[in-house]
Amino acid sequence: MKFFVLGFLVFGSLSSSAQKKLTVYANKPVAEISPTMWGIFFEDINFGADGGLYAELVKNRSFEFTTPLMGWKEIKQQGNGRILVVNNGIESSGNQRYVQVTVDEGSYGISNEGFRGMGIQKNEQYNFSVLARKGHGDIKMHIELVNMAGKKIGEASLSNLSSQWKTSSVSFTTTDTATKGRLNVWLEGKGKVDLDMISLFPQNTWKNRTKGLRKDLVQFLADMKPGFIRFPGGCIVEGRDLSNRYQWKKTVGAVEDRKLIVNRWNTEFKHRLTPDYYQTFGLGFFEYFQLSEDLGAEPLPILNCGMACQYNSGEVVSINDMDPYIQDALDLVEFANGPASSQWGRLRADMGHSEPFHLKYLGIGNEQWDEQYIERYKEFEKVLQQKHPEIKLVAAAGPSPDGPRFDYAWKEFRKLNASLIDEHYYQAPEWFLKNVNRYDNYDRKGPKVFAGEYAAHSKTVTQFDNRNNWECALAEAAFMTGLERNADVVRMSSYAPLFAHVDAWQWTPDLIWFDNLRSYGTPNYYVQKLFATNKGTTAVPLLENGQPLSGSDSIYASSVIDKKRGEVIIKLVNTSSTSLPVTINIEGAKLSQKNAAVEQLYSGKMGVNSLDQPKAVYPVEQSLTIKEKTVALSLPPLSLTIIKVFAALTK
Ligand code: AHR
Repeated sequence: MKFFVLGFLVFGSLSSSAQKKLTVYANKPVAEISPTMWGIFFEDINFGADGGLYAELVKNRSFEFTTPLMGWKEIKQQGNGRILVVNNGIESSGNQRYVQVTVDEGSYGISNEGFRGMGIQKNEQYNFSVLARKGHGDIKMHIELVNMAGKKIGEASLSNLSSQWKTSSVSFTTTDTATKGRLNVWLEGKGKVDLDMISLFPQNTWKNRTKGLRKDLVQFLADMKPGFIRFPGGCIVEGRDLSNRYQWKKTVGAVEDRKLIVNRWNTEFKHRLTPDYYQTFGLGFFEYFQLSEDLGAEPLPILNCGMACQYNSGEVVSINDMDPYIQDALDLVEFANGPASSQWGRLRADMGHSEPFHLKYLGIGNEQWDEQYIERYKEFEKVLQQKHPEIKLVAAAGPSPDGPRFDYAWKEFRKLNASLIDEHYYQAPEWFLKNVNRYDNYDRKGPKVFAGEYAAHSKTVTQFDNRNNWECALAEAAFMTGLERNADVVRMSSYAPLFAHVDAWQWTPDLIWFDNLRSYGTPNYYVQKLFATNKGTTAVPLLENGQPLSGSDSIYASSVIDKKRGEVIIKLVNTSSTSLPVTINIEGAKLSQKNAAVEQLYSGKMGVNSLDQPKAVYPVEQSLTIKEKTVALSLPPLSLTIIKVFAALTK
């Protein structure tokens, strides 16, 4: 990354009359910044998990989709045969179906299209596995990866298939790259074979875990150093009705036993239909906890509270029948934190993690509203407070940032003295600018705020041109200075949604976009990253004429100190289309270096990143000379500037 001294920005080169004069009071703490201040909201929307973060390349590997052969097609090469979908009839099984392939002659088989194709990298190792049972005859299996033109770019053979169900695996190295490859499973000879759990993963996953997560996507998250990961959503928690709500217990244990369900986003938006969108739960609760641990983030699971999405059926479980839902919460605490001798702790240990995951937060319900929610929340609270007072519960304030439902939720949760309330706002950029002071007057003694889902939208959600442009990202940055100034009230926040596949999204804008091989962070991502990696430990005042900056001359600002690292960090957002000279006087700190480190993001309002231009809007690093205790620079038009000054901080 470029690092140079900005000669033209040093003190003295600006006209003093036009300068905005600011002062940071580094020894006047206003609030402790929660380590969970900036985090991640993960939901399996837009192919976020299957087809995204979860690196499985085979779609419908277990033939459990509602249409059993969705994603598969018959292939022949001077051969012939039949494919029969068979159900084992065991209703309690997570995996009832398999296919029986009969080969009459030659080469015959099935081919999988992947998730909008398979992304294959040249010279990489790929691991194929299949649960197979050989019937009569002599059958050999040969697999090949082909590119869009049908050219072979990798192959391997499996012999000695067992006459009992058995997983067989083989690894091979590819000879070429393909963005939209496919997998052919050829059966050669004459006879019958039963096939299930046909799977293909790259070896090169995050931390090289077998059947793990897509490395480039996790790296984006790791680079943010998030304070928490909220999972698994979102509306996915609720389901359109209770039958397709998220049930964590069905997402742990052996992968082949995890019963898939349709993804509720599959046909939610008529102009973005994704009928092949399912949740296989290969990425399940164990993996979410593990990911949180990998990234040093607090896990924040959200559980269904006995209510389906109120935008859909709004189905509720009767208040007298809440026990299984509450038991799920108790068992989850045991799964995460219990000893390996406990029932659920043992499962965690059997899955490879005997140490606890140190769960501290639990969300009850996603975007619920009205009396039926409060009633159900109270049932959870009663039991959890008694059995697990160490767990902080997160309550929901509904889908809007204001209005009768929002006010009602807050009134009720105030009475309950709730710990954290999850507020959501998907609004126009102007709303974010107008609401920078939103938390200035929140009750300091009431529940704390989790700004759990937010994003500036230039258009209505799902519109193709509702883009992750710089205007939206900059408005979010301005708003985030307000969150930081109010860090005593706002303890957690996360942009939403996180991921989107360019060929399979339902909702836009999103923080990180990808295709089968490539990925990029949006300008909004870099805003999040700059805040999260410059979190500090304590908010301190940054004032102009004794007042915080929240819009005067289109400048929004906040400041923190990092007591551990000896840093004063200033965040400045200029939303005007002209540059603006500022001087910042640093009070209450003995500076230890003559240079300040500056990171800036700027662009035109419509600036976006893309797969082809992933860094069109990207932080620029500079070094700035400090004169005396004053930093002087010119804020570029439409910019976010982070200034880091190194200092011995007085206690
Ligand atoms: O982030 C997308 C959706 O927005 C979430 O699933 C839901 O909670 C909200 O309505």
